[in-house]
Amino acid sequence: MKHEPIYYGSYLELDKLLDAQNPMSKKNGKEAHDETLFIIIHQAYELWFKQIIHEIDSIYDIFSNKTIAPEQISLVNHRLARVNEIQRVLNAQMKIIETMTPMDFMDFRDYLIPASGFQSIQFRTIELKLGLREKQRTTMAKKFFNSRLSEEDKEYLKSLENSPTLLELVDKWLSRMPFTETDNFDFWKSYKDAVEKMLTADKDLIKKNTTLNEMQQMIELKNLEATKESFDILFDKEKYNSLLENDDLKLSQKAKLSAIFISLYRHEPVFQLPYRLINHLIEIDELFTQWRYNHAIMVHRMLGTKIGTGGSSGHDYLKKAADNNKIFSDFFDMATFLIPNAYLPKLPENLKVNLGFMHE
Ligand code: HEM
Repeated sequence: MKHEPIYYGSYLELDKLLDAQNPMSKKNGKEAHDETLFIIIHQAYELWFKQIIHEIDSIYDIFSNKTIAPEQISLVNHRLARVNEIQRVLNAQMKIIETMTPMDFMDFRDYLIPASGFQSIQFRTIELKLGLREKQRTTMAKKFFNSRLSEEDKEYLKSLENSPTLLELVDKWLSRMPFTETDNFDFWKSYKDAVEKMLTADKDLIKKNTTLNEMQQMIELKNLEATKESFDILFDKEKYNSLLENDDLKLSQKAKLSAIFISLYRHEPVFQLPYRLINHLIEIDELFTQWRYNHAIMVHRMLGTKIGTGGSSGHDYLKKAADNNKIFSDFFDMATFLIPNAYLPKLPENLKVNLGFMHE
């Protein structure tokens, strides 16, 4: 061996790690048994947050390149899958803290004021790097957590707020996708025709449905009109961009169209990696939203309607954040624009060759 033999404990720096659980209740004279659990569970979360940031940073670097090779996308997928697995562990861990009763929590809770999860810089870092912008947060959130942070942390988070997000980098990558227009094929024209046929067939079905009374029929036709309006917005650059500016949409029109095309033809070999990538991003949002709900429910059980140590309305604020703080919601909404296989335009042979593995 060229290097010095290493010892398990020193490699993992366990002296530091295991010396970092110092309950405030003990310092104040009467140790509360459950405070050790409270500290360890937060530390375990912060360690996993660190690993998630490590993965996101590497993915971020790959997407910052002007061109991205297919094997790089495989690597991105591999790392996003890892993030998703870590998130599953994070979600499951919430049960451990629920073994602490509200009364046991009260034995040391007051020592924590004014510290709170609001000050988890790594949690904010994950949100910011993925693409959650300050303007998207609820007014209450903006008011509270900035006022509770040290100047240094505020500066750091501000610098992230001004850097490109993973969502923006993925948007640029998707916007560069070719394939939808070739010399002999205009996909979006064929798609619009297919949508028109599908909506006409849906309208006929509603009108012929004798199990609906007049009122129910009217409601269904109105809903169908709303779906048609969504399709119209998708192709109307001006309307689309005004929703984008208003933050009602997050993906550019070009990126959204590419993502829809990838989903419609996901079985084509060339689209399998991008399709998996989009689904990993959807899963990140889904699993974080589940985490937020689990945390909010746990907080309800632990605090009732008391305010948090960070000064928010507690359970009520957290529930709103769960509804509000999604990042990849445009990928979820994409399902609106998927059409049944029977209506799907057939791709021309020369294009299919470019999308496949078979070469002359
Ligand atoms: C007894 C257990 C817990 C209670 C009662 C609790 C309570 C709260 C409350 C009330 C808030 C809102 C901010 C405030 O006013 O303080 C909050 C935010 C937060 N907590 Fe917890 N929490 C607990 C455990 C945890 C654990 C184990 C984690 C893991 C890291 C965590 C992470 C966070 C994060 C990241 C936020 C900010 C969420 C956001 O602003 O979207 N909490 N917590």
